Amino acid sequence: MTADGVRHLLADDDLTPAEQAEVLDLAAALKAEPFSRRPLEGPRTVAMVFDKPTLRTQTSFSAGIAELGGFPMVVDGALAGIGERESVADVARVLGRQAAAVVWRTGPQERLEEMARHAGVPVVNALTDDYHPCQLLADLLTVREHTGSLAGRSVAFVGDGACNMGHSWLLAGAMAGMHVRVGAPVGYQPADDVVARAGALASGTGGSATVVADVGEAVDGVDVVVTDTWVSMGFEEQSADRTAALAPYAVTEDLVALADADAIVMHCLPAYRGREISAEVLDGPRSVVWDEAENRRHAQKAVLAWLLERSP
Ligand code: NVA
Repeated sequence: MTADGVRHLLADDDLTPAEQAEVLDLAAALKAEPFSRRPLEGPRTVAMVFDKPTLRTQTSFSAGIAELGGFPMVVDGALAGIGERESVADVARVLGRQAAAVVWRTGPQERLEEMARHAGVPVVNALTDDYHPCQLLADLLTVREHTGSLAGRSVAFVGDGACNMGHSWLLAGAMAGMHVRVGAPVGYQPADDVVARAGALASGTGGSATVVADVGEAVDGVDVVVTDTWVSMGFEEQSADRTAALAPYAVTEDLVALADADAIVMHCLPAYRGREISAEVLDGPRSVVWDEAENRRHAQKAVLAWLLERSP
């Protein structure tokens, strides 16, 4: 919450564990009855700003905003020149006068925080370098659908543990009472402060948050195996180094064989078959990636409705 009393979703732990459960329940309800909540009736506008490429985020937010009764307005971040042509604060003040909420995909987390301080309307993180909380709400909904529960389930996130998805899995998974293991080599392990925050959350929810370098140890017996691209948007110039360092962490059938016999496999997409995940696993029977992609819409509708209802 910013000083003006407006609620935002800038990082996964902007929600409490009870609030996360409320949002997930609302997402499931909206999946069952897509037009049952119409907080954007009018239509009121939601601004979606993209400084980085997008497919799932733009389409799932657009469809979801329409289903909530609203109008999805896409803003090209490069065209707007946010932080260059005019300051983040001035862009925030302008967007807040046009839109009921702002959804932003950008790089540094500080830009998003600055937007939230000045927009006067809810701001939602649609991916930064540090976190991807909307994807995690969709992922948790997906785990719940496929396994029946979250608390007590175990998940291994393997590969680039320092990326937005590694961080968000630690925070959101621990918040849900899951046992989150990140399997990543030194140099690609999650930030210490994120591990500490996840550990603090886990101590209240009965979950756990651990980081190991041994990928087999990470995956051993888990209910859920997750990976993500080794080269996140904005890190393309490091592609060769990352590919060399992370190759042993590829999610192959041999690796998944170490997980629970009923384990599911997740990937936020886009996926690079033959690199961080084999085609056999991504396209195989354990993969739930298309459900994850669909669940973005339901989860984000829930976030928007929930935030709008709680902001002045
Ligand atoms: N870690 C990836 C997630 C893509 C949805 C990236 O930031 O590019």
